[in-house]
Amino acid sequence: KLSEEDKVRSPICCMMGHIDTGKTKLLDYITGNVQEGEAGGTTQKMGATYLSARNILEKTMELKSDTKLKVPGLLFIDTPGYEFYTNLRSRGLGLCDFAILVVDIMHGLEPQTIECLNLLRMKNTEFIIALNKVDRLYGWRICENAPILEAMKQQAKDVINEFNMRLNEIINQFKEQGLNSELYYKNKKMGETFSIVPTCAISGEGIPDLLLLLVQLTQKTMVEKLITYVDKVQCTVLEVKVMEGYGTTIDVVLVNGEVHEGGQIVVCGLQGPIVTTIRALLTPHPIKELHVNGNHVHHEVIKAAECINIIAKDLEHVIVGTALHVVGPDDDIEAIKELVMEDVNSVLSRIDKSGEGVYIQASTLGSLEALLEFLKSPAVKLPVGGIGIGPVQKKDVMKAGVMLERKKEFATILALDVEVTTEARELADEMEVKIFCSDIMYHLFDQYQAYIC
Ligand code: GTP
Ligand code: MG
Ligand code: NA
Repeated sequence: KLSEEDKVRSPICCMMGHIDTGKTKLLDYITGNVQEGEAGGTTQKMGATYLSARNILEKTMELKSDTKLKVPGLLFIDTPGYEFYTNLRSRGLGLCDFAILVVDIMHGLEPQTIECLNLLRMKNTEFIIALNKVDRLYGWRICENAPILEAMKQQAKDVINEFNMRLNEIINQFKEQGLNSELYYKNKKMGETFSIVPTCAISGEGIPDLLLLLVQLTQKTMVEKLITYVDKVQCTVLEVKVMEGYGTTIDVVLVNGEVHEGGQIVVCGLQGPIVTTIRALLTPHPIKELHVNGNHVHHEVIKAAECINIIAKDLEHVIVGTALHVVGPDDDIEAIKELVMEDVNSVLSRIDKSGEGVYIQASTLGSLEALLEFLKSPAVKLPVGGIGIGPVQKKDVMKAGVMLERKKEFATILALDVEVTTEARELADEMEVKIFCSDIMYHLFDQYQAYIC
């Protein structure tokens, strides 16, 4: 039987904000990980990182608060700020208990800041505003990892003046959006007035404050809506990757419920639903637990919220960004198989009904949706006739080749952040189907335009 404490799950915090405000960098600083190799320095999929309660408390020690953290840890979900990723911002937020809205102090409110703000209000989600990049204020003196008031004490008068000027401007911009906000240490009306924490994701000023506020928000959320387990598993696939010694594995974020080693799961695959059995459940090595061998820790059962690496057979064709379902003893497996395909079917239903248009291919369902949005936008307006996920293969070239007879300029594949197999490349050359590859959407379109002009 579960004790009260066992019933509490880790809350989930969503990173939201306009492009390049520093969402990913803040997470890197907080968790000590580094997200390497983001194409063009832009986040293009949801990411998840876990921070244990002990780690959080260590990082807030300097603030000498007596706040206790009664949850196992915090799970952070990173979302992209790029304008065409409204789908992932909305989905990321849908998984979360609260959020951090990141604003660049040098830029103030930007279009996606406002979009995020509206999403947050629509979903009635509590949030903290991180006013990031304070180190960009002219003459800022770096105070590594310092609580923000301590860092402020070290700054020259001009810096403080510029800070206040920009802060007030941003508070006014929020007011124009109908939102009251105030520096968190001056905020006397929590709940009515939203707290602002100045931060720097490079040298860590204000990060202890940000974490402490998250702890306080956790306690408050727990009191208000008791973040306990619900039996129903809610789980999303974040990544498909080959791991040495394990073959193809998937990274998932478990939002609710629990998963067991040996449990049966159903995931969405390119060629249809995939039913398989969990052979092993791994989590990344927790920092400082040196008694564990290797880079991962094995578990028999994992409870939400966590990011998990799942080892199982037949995961090669899993579509990133779709839901994972656990098969319970009383479940109808056929119904679950239909359910897992819903996400893909809804995207498929959005391609041009005439079937006339270019063929697009991306690595995840989320980026495929974003690419569709981008190509539909007024500045682009390029019809899409077919879609694919994962590496470009011969069958994709065949499908794109259908356009050769109808509209030759559409006999092209726009491949976003995916490989092209050698056979596909050869066939494309033979058939004269053009393939454009890039990590960045608008580069794909630029290449296409240069080709048809
Ligand atoms: P998207 O995911 O593309 O929306 O961007 P993001 O919000 O995750 O921003 P990201 O973390 O990629 O940071 C964007 C750029 O700003 C990078 O070059 C960072 O190094 C830089 N940056 C982020 N935070 C800070 C900061 O506090 N100070 C300074 N000087 N640069 C920062
Ligand atoms: Mg990012
Ligand atoms: Na970025």
